[in-house]
Amino acid sequence: MQAPESQASEPQDLPTPFPTVAVVGLGTMGAGVAVAAARSGRRVIGVEADGAAAARALARIEEATAHAVARERLTAGERTALLARITVGAELSAVAAADLVVEEVPEQLELKRELFAELDRICPPHTVLATGTTSLSVTRIAAATARPERVLGLHFFNPVHAMKLVEVVRSVLTDPQVAEQAAEFARALGKEPVAAGDRAGFVVNGLLFAYLNQAAAMFESRYATREDIDAAMRLGCGLPMGPLALLDLIGLDTARTVLEAMYEQSRDRLHAPAPILGQLVSAGLLGRKSGRGFYRYEAPGSSKTVPEAASAAAGRPAGRTVGSVGVCGSGTMATGIAEVFAKAGHPVVLVARSQEKAEKAKAQLARSLDRSVAKGRLTAEQRDRTLGLVTPTGSQADLAQVDLVLEAVAEDLAVKRELFAALDKIVKPGAVLATTTSSLPVISCATATSRPQDVIGMHFFNPAPAMKLVEVVSTVLTAPEVTATVLELCAEVRKHPVECGDRAGFIVNALLFPYLNDAVRMLAEHYATVDDIDTAMKLGCGYPMGPFELLDVVGLDVSLTIEQVLHQEFREPGLAAAPLLEHLVAAGCLGRKTGRGFRDHARR
Ligand SMILES: NC(=O)c1ccc[n+]([C@@H]2O[C@H](COP(=O)([O-])OP(=O)(O)OC[C@H]3O[C@@H](n4cnc5c(N)ncnc54)[C@H](O)[C@@H]3O)[C@@H](O)[C@H]2O)c1
Repeated sequence: MQAPESQASEPQDLPTPFPTVAVVGLGTMGAGVAVAAARSGRRVIGVEADGAAAARALARIEEATAHAVARERLTAGERTALLARITVGAELSAVAAADLVVEEVPEQLELKRELFAELDRICPPHTVLATGTTSLSVTRIAAATARPERVLGLHFFNPVHAMKLVEVVRSVLTDPQVAEQAAEFARALGKEPVAAGDRAGFVVNGLLFAYLNQAAAMFESRYATREDIDAAMRLGCGLPMGPLALLDLIGLDTARTVLEAMYEQSRDRLHAPAPILGQLVSAGLLGRKSGRGFYRYEAPGSSKTVPEAASAAAGRPAGRTVGSVGVCGSGTMATGIAEVFAKAGHPVVLVARSQEKAEKAKAQLARSLDRSVAKGRLTAEQRDRTLGLVTPTGSQADLAQVDLVLEAVAEDLAVKRELFAALDKIVKPGAVLATTTSSLPVISCATATSRPQDVIGMHFFNPAPAMKLVEVVSTVLTAPEVTATVLELCAEVRKHPVECGDRAGFIVNALLFPYLNDAVRMLAEHYATVDDIDTAMKLGCGYPMGPFELLDVVGLDVSLTIEQVLHQEFREPGLAAAPLLEHLVAAGCLGRKTGRGFRDHARR
């Protein structure tokens, strides 16, 4: 660390653009940005509110870089050189020497506007001013200066050293060249910039917070437990964290502020903060930082949760014994599900519309087992034993003695009701009848039988042998003992069951598809590009796929149907399928399966 006056002796071959960067506010974000900029070889002028805060900020920077050395992300020599490029003080006038000022003070509009007015007075005309705001209007901050064309947003993600994404936010007045320079600066810091317009939440939070809000509302309506909502999204979508755990990490007060800002602009009820957020915030339960939010933590700041006393399992009746299982269908899901049960040692009757189709499905299953053997996940003996447990048949009458039937036939209510009516006549009393439907009401299958208490939904995910999640869907008529049977069975076949009610989308699709739909709307509004939105969600949230990649894999027609079912069920205007999605489906662009969806796969 060195005094500001010694900067004059710095070598002149500083990197461009923005060889000298000032960072105002060296808290969580500012300290991270200062270190990243210094690491890129730039001279950094850090400014804090007062002397004491500056001393604390300096200590924070020293500690963070020492930690980086300990973790071998930085050598001791690099750390010394990096620290020598940073000055920290409490005099705002020091920013006059900077080519770029990055503001990272607390999220208050007036504070930021006053600061920008001051920066505008202090800095020479060429200096670019960037705000680190998450949810405030960049345009309104820019309006406090006489150089709105040189003002933009640089939205880094926490922790700055680990998160590669930077949203470069342009207001309508920002000079495109300045935005391009800012993007180049982000790249020079080893980051990946995406372009965004000035709208509450930008790309990442705009898509993320609506989803988090729906998850909070889902919990609030007691549709599912917090653990089940979180497990469903982790295991069903491969997300790094469940939405309620993530809200606790972000801070419920922050989440509420972001949602308020989004609602103010969009007037979309789906952005209006779920009442539970307000209640928890008022009670001082802000999430991890206060030791309690949706979950309880061992201590404030701890990531370790403590289990709540009452559990859903208490008072549940014992389930029925399930030995042999029937699977109806010959498609991907039916074969995958048959594999799951047979691998766990259950005799499986695999029923298709003909003996030939059933044999083909078994051959498909055999190929899947062969692949597992080739990968060393299964021995040849295990494969043979598993295959030996599967009896293919074209006759439903062979289901008479099984303990549980799972249907995975076409997603068509008439077809499913006809099947359930037939099963009702054939299968022995006391057997559980389950549907794998993803979008039809389970109760409509149940009422096709004379024993609706024995009917339940078991929503597996594709590919069934690999995906751990099963949504266990009880209707208003399902017997508690039947729910218990299925929950026990799932655990026994090494799946993770989550419980939910019989409403459109269950947990996963009800939270996933509105988010995908929002992404399509964002694209249709020319707010950001397909690539930028996908990159932003992958890098900003750690999602395995961006929304457009996922839509192209799932199929645009399938996605549209699910969105229509959700809209039909909840009548929420914000859930209406994006017209762009409808147009693409009408044009036959259904995603990977047709070679073209949001991306052209044929040309790749
Ligand atoms: N924390 C996050 O996860 C995150 C992520 C992305 C963006 N942001 C945004 O980044 C900005 C900074 O957030 P943070 O989490 O780093 O806040 P923070 O509270 O950790 O840090 C703010 C710092 O600004 C200093 N400060 C206050 N007034 C000042 C002034 N007038 N001059 C100089 N310094 C002043 C404070 O002393 C404090 O050190 C906010 O706009 C926030 O919305 C935060």
